[in-house]
Parts: sequence; C-alpha cells; structure tokens
Amino acid sequence: MAPLNIFILGGTGYVGGTVIVDILKRGNHEITALVRSKEKALALEALKLGSLNVVLGTATDAAVVDSCVQEADIIIDTYDSDNVEGTAVLLGACKKRFDNTKEKVTLIHVSGCAVLKDEAMGKFASETIWDDTDVDKLAQLPPTQPHRVVDLQVLEADTEGYVNSYIVIPGAIYGHADNLLSQAGIQRDTDLGPRMVIDHVIALAGTPAAIGGGFNLWPWVHVEDVSTLILTILDNLESAPHGREGYYFAENIEITWGWVAAMVAKYMGTPFADVRAFTKEEVARFFPPPNDALVPLMAGNCRYRGTRGRALGWTPKYDKDHLERDVARLTASKIQA
Ligand SMILES: NC(=O)c1ccc[n+]([C@@H]2O[C@H](COP(=O)([O-])OP(=O)(O)OC[C@H]3O[C@@H](n4cnc5c(N)ncnc54)[C@H](OP(=O)(O)O)[C@@H]3O)[C@@H](O)[C@H]2O)c1
Repeated sequence: MAPLNIFILGGTGYVGGTVIVDILKRGNHEITALVRSKEKALALEALKLGSLNVVLGTATDAAVVDSCVQEADIIIDTYDSDNVEGTAVLLGACKKRFDNTKEKVTLIHVSGCAVLKDEAMGKFASETIWDDTDVDKLAQLPPTQPHRVVDLQVLEADTEGYVNSYIVIPGAIYGHADNLLSQAGIQRDTDLGPRMVIDHVIALAGTPAAIGGGFNLWPWVHVEDVSTLILTILDNLESAPHGREGYYFAENIEITWGWVAAMVAKYMGTPFADVRAFTKEEVARFFPPPNDALVPLMAGNCRYRGTRGRALGWTPKYDKDHLERDVARLTASKIQA
C-alpha cells in the first residue's frame, strides 16, 4: 500500500493508542495525532517515533482540526462516540477539503454497540441478533439510541459525498494494551466493563450481582482485535463498503453481565452463589451521576455478528477463555491493591 497520511483523534486512548502502535509497526505511513493534554503531547514527542507528528489541541479546536484534515488521506476518529460538536468541526473540515480538492477523505469512526441496546434492564436475554450486513434495518435505528446522533452525522457526510465513512462498532472492549505508549504512561487502559463489575462484586464482599440479575447479552472484544479490524478496513478501502453499508461490528465473545460478575466471585474465591439483581440502593450507589446514564445501556441486550470485517479477512484472536483469564488477572490485581 502507498504511504498514507493518517490523522488520528483519541490517539492517547485505549483504542487509539493501540491503533497508533499497530500502524507504526507497518512503518510506511505518516501519522498525525491530535492530543489534548500538553503533558501527554510532550511525552509522546519524547518517544521520537519517526513518522508520528503530535499536534496539541482538542476535537473542538476548529483551526487545529482543520489544518490536520487538509493534509490527511485518512481520518481515524476514536475519541468520543457522543461528541456532536467535535464531529461537526471534523466534518466541516472534511467538507472544506472536498470543496478545495474534489477528493473525498476516508473517515473511520469508532462508535459503540449500545446503539443497538434494547430495554431489557438486565432481566432477559433477547433472541434478536443483528448483523452488520442488515443495511435496511440499521438505517432505521432512531436518533434516540446511544451514539446514534453522531453516527448519523457521519453517515450524512457520506451521503452528501464528501467523505467515505466506515463506522466501527465495538462491544465491551477488554484486555491490557501492553505497548510502548502504555509503558510510557501515555495510553489509557479503558477496559471499563470488567473493572466496573470487579469493583461492584468486591464492594459486595464477593456476592455476584448485576443490574436486573445481568441476564442481558453483550458482545465483547479484545482491544487488539478492535485495532486489527480498523487496520483491515484500512487495507481494503478499495473493496470495503462505506456509508449506509459501511458498518463493521467488532465482536468475538458473547456473554451476559451476570457471567462476568460470577467470574469475579469465582476468582475472589467466594462460595459460588447465583447471580442476584442489584437492589435499587446498590444501583444508585454504584452508578452515581453521570454514570447513571450507563445503567440502561449496560442493562440492554446488544447481540450482533460482525460479518463485514470477517469478509475482508479480519480474524479476531481473543476468545471467551482469554476473557476469563483477563477477569482473573484484573480481580487479583484489585484485591492486592
Ligand atoms: N472502552 C470501551 O469498552 C468501548 C466500548 C465500545 C465503544 N467505545 C468507544 O470507542 C471510542 C474509544 O474508546 P476508548 O476506550 O479508547 O476511550 P479512551 O480510552 O477514553 O480514549 C479517548 C481518547 O480521546 C481523547 N479525547 C477525549 N475527548 C477529547 C476531546 N474533546 N478532544 C481531544 N481528544 C479527546 C482522550 O484524551 P486523554 O488521553 O487526554 O484523556 C483519549 O486519548 C469511544 O468513542 C468509545 O465510546 C469504547
């Protein structure tokens, strides 16, 4: 593949940092990373990663974003799947770029599986399984679904013809991002799903519990598998569908939240007990504002299959046994802390 100029937003994050490291391994592309923290920008520059340029700014810094977009062939947007204002700034710059050059820019946007969530509130596992090739059904998702407003902004830009959009939709992301950015303290480990469940079960002295009993199903995926999906799209831009067909579900494991709670209890060594539902007081205690917004998301069913990425050759590596070992690792480290 010819060398590309890749602009990445969220490059000090869990997904974005992993993507940067994977692209750097390829050695042939130029990367520009927008970094909002001066401290992290300096730390990233100090690593002297030849083809990585660091630009200080936030996603709503229109002038900064604009200058990065004008130089970019590819944009990878992993910073916040709900940032309407930042997305408008980014797309405004893409439109200007198109008006000046008549070239469409490629935008790989990372969203989240809660866009598909139902109203189970943890009480049941749904029979409904989405597929990322369900184009007509996906087009009907209402703007009231989580992350959907931003997904619609991105899709609209593709329809208007100044962007080719690829929307990557990961389930709960887990796994230690063990790389040069995390070792330098730059990259976050935002494996919120397992960490939250571990905190709750520890707070309940080892009793496994979840919202509504945790019967609802979610897809899970290792952070490295999310990154390889993004790189697979990048490698197949000629053939990978974009726009209304360009959804890429990132999943390789399907479990209930109750299963995660039971695994934490197992690795805490507490006697096995059935997973029970949180009381109302526990929900209020474990999800104080603004995290109360997570309750209906985490408690909904999000069942899906990622057909598009696999059709392009994406082969996720990490399975349910690996997730169990990772929950064991995190539980042990929390108990020792
Ligand atoms: N983690 C998950 O389990 C999960 C699951 C499904 C979907 N997703 C979605 O995937 C995307 C990436 O998630 P993640 O876990 O990698 O997030 P993360 O670790 O929190 O990283 C977010 C990155 O974006 C940067 N950032 C945030 N707001 C910004 C702004 N306004 N301007 C500039 N930079 C900004 C952060 O900078 P700092 O380093 O300075 O904070 C960080 O580098 C998000 O859209 C998220 O909703 C995540």
